Amino acid sequence: MGATEDAASGRPARPGGTAPHSVGSPGTEATTVLPGRIRQRFPIFERLTYVNSCSQGALSEDVRAAYHAYLRDWDEQGAPWEYWVERSEAARGAFARLIGADPDEVAVTTSLSAGVSALFSGLRFEDERTTIVVSDFEFPTVGQIAHAQELRGRRVVHVPEADDATIPLEHFDAAIDEHTALVAVTHVCYRNGSRVDVEGVVRLAHERGALVLLDAYQAAGTIPLDVRPLDVDFLAAGTVKYLLGSAGLAFLYCRSDLVEGIRPTSTGWFADQDIFQMDIHDYSPAATARRFEFGTPPVPNIYAGLAGLELVEEIGVAATEEHVRGLTAQLIDGVDDLGGRIATPRDPDRRGPLVAIAATDEHALVAALEADGVVTSSRDGNLRVSFHGYNSAEDVEVVLAALRRRRALLVPK
Ligand SMILES: Cc1ncc(COP(=O)(O)O)c(C=O)c1O
Repeated sequence: MGATEDAASGRPARPGGTAPHSVGSPGTEATTVLPGRIRQRFPIFERLTYVNSCSQGALSEDVRAAYHAYLRDWDEQGAPWEYWVERSEAARGAFARLIGADPDEVAVTTSLSAGVSALFSGLRFEDERTTIVVSDFEFPTVGQIAHAQELRGRRVVHVPEADDATIPLEHFDAAIDEHTALVAVTHVCYRNGSRVDVEGVVRLAHERGALVLLDAYQAAGTIPLDVRPLDVDFLAAGTVKYLLGSAGLAFLYCRSDLVEGIRPTSTGWFADQDIFQMDIHDYSPAATARRFEFGTPPVPNIYAGLAGLELVEEIGVAATEEHVRGLTAQLIDGVDDLGGRIATPRDPDRRGPLVAIAATDEHALVAALEADGVVTSSRDGNLRVSFHGYNSAEDVEVVLAALRRRRALLVPK
């Protein structure tokens, strides 16, 4: 892709803009049709090549309008409490649809951390089951909440990563035993984009009588999730990234038959059986997964989150997965041609929407790409490039052209 200068910004001009892709642009039908349908609803693409959904999804006109609607309703109606509650229930329903659950199995939370903390606070550990197994792909919050349980006499066992950026099932096999109460596993690792064999882990855990918590934050919106065939016991994610909402909204799924046996000690009045009873003399958690909630719902973020979830439904998660798979393959091939090292597994079944590229100085590389109008992020020595339905094959070409100019910052193969 030619890197002509954009006169206004001094940056290399980005091709594509907001228009649907022209015939002859790079990519197959799968990598052109989808962004053509929705890209114009994300104004950032008029200015930048945005490939950073692993940090935060791009802002759509729909989400912007939802925030305006929140302010309008506040202004016009004061505190439309019943409507807010209705919106909160709508969010519960949308999260449930996203993962194939029943709404009563879903808690609407302000962060993944909040839902997971409430869950851990209520887990019963029997005498012979005192261990929590966590994969080394976990986001800090899950690792830290697990280790906090050491204060309550629990033990934490880590499952190590192999040299090829995967965690093979044998590693889980060695860590899970008859003392394991819970296995915490992340679907797609935020550091390197590696995708765990969730079905395999669930099988091993259940064979040994342990429960499974899936952190699907880096997958939700780009990988179809269905809790019934996946057979996970708990699942948590949030709206900041591929669900196209904003900060301050997340959810926790808890399988219906497990809800009653878990009594969170981290709690609040929105977890009560009857919120409006206003009873300060007892603790009676809701009979549903609402028992994992805390206080006033994050109303503005629910407006935004619902708009994001509607977009995700409209785009279609399966279509997004297929589209994104084409883009990640295109990027990996291009980095290979540049002689760079890919830190994400090459097997398409072992990766999601995120490709990590080894950098000699990842912060300098992110800054250099930013100067070229390409928005990325980094973790752990790697540049992170992540795609959604709005990204195009041309975006990948822009990223590759920028990497070519900054080749000195790539770790050679
Ligand atoms: C995989 C994963 N889990 C958890 C989190 C944190 O979620 P929250 O801040 O909502 O607790 C993130 C956020 O970056 C993440 O990528």
